[in-house]
Amino acid sequence: MSSQPPVENLRLSPAEPAAARSVQQVAVIGAGKVGTVVARSLLEAGYRVTLSGSGDPAELALMIGILAPGAEARWTADAVAEADLVVLALPLHRLPDLDPALLAGRIVVDSMNYWPPVDGSIAAFDAAEQGSSPVVQQMFPEAIVVKTFNHTGYHHLEPDRRPAGHPERLGLAVAGDEPGAVALVAGLVDRLGYDPVPVDSLAATRFLEPGGPAFGARLTAAELRELVAVPAGRP
Ligand SMILES: NC(=O)c1ccc[n+]([C@@H]2O[C@H](COP(=O)([O-])OP(=O)(O)OC[C@H]3O[C@@H](n4cnc5c(N)ncnc54)[C@H](OP(=O)(O)O)[C@@H]3O)[C@@H](O)[C@H]2O)c1
Repeated sequence: MSSQPPVENLRLSPAEPAAARSVQQVAVIGAGKVGTVVARSLLEAGYRVTLSGSGDPAELALMIGILAPGAEARWTADAVAEADLVVLALPLHRLPDLDPALLAGRIVVDSMNYWPPVDGSIAAFDAAEQGSSPVVQQMFPEAIVVKTFNHTGYHHLEPDRRPAGHPERLGLAVAGDEPGAVALVAGLVDRLGYDPVPVDSLAATRFLEPGGPAFGARLTAAELRELVAVPAGRP
């Protein structure tokens, strides 16, 4: 028998601050370089984790057993239905594969970057002066998008993890428009081994993306905070 709470209990309602709920199960969508490293880190931190790709989960099971043992392969729709939190770790050009209705009401971590050599040229992202995550939010208007993980290399994410208070602990930006969702993801980032640096707007995250000063820079929280931009129009 499943120990999962009913799916409806995991959806956000305006009256329910996201931070008040605890994350136990995470659906990582995309079982490539980032997805498997994020999955492994989450498992080590004590979360239940599913991984899904674009196809039959049976085809992922062997790879997951080697690269993220303990994670479970799922169809994406089943993974999302079971999860308290969703991590998008697929190439941006594949994002239109996902039905926006699937992510309605979900807190969704955007770990992705627009990378034309892989993604090709996509007009909406080419024109996105405020970065890729506001576009992702527009594509999934009923989801609550929180940006993190994107500014570190997949090969650094695991070895850079440190316990709280460690002098070499690095920071990870956690950006979003909904404070409760940012707080919830910040708690997860902390548990993974990074000092979360909250950023209160998806529109202020260009500095985290390819070409930006924080991208691949492996910064402490204090160093990251110095780079947090104030969105245009804000005092
Ligand atoms: N590599 C890095 O260091 C790094 C760091 C930060 C952020 N990022 C960003 O993270 C994202 C993922 O990068 P990556 O390096 O992990 O890519 P990757 O190794 O190519 O893996 C992408 C995965 O996404 C899956 N996928 C594609 N379409 C899907 C769909 N519709 N549903 C579910 N899964 C799907 C692919 O599986 P299938 O075989 O099923 O297509 C593949 O396993 C990109 O946006 C990238 O820019 C990368």
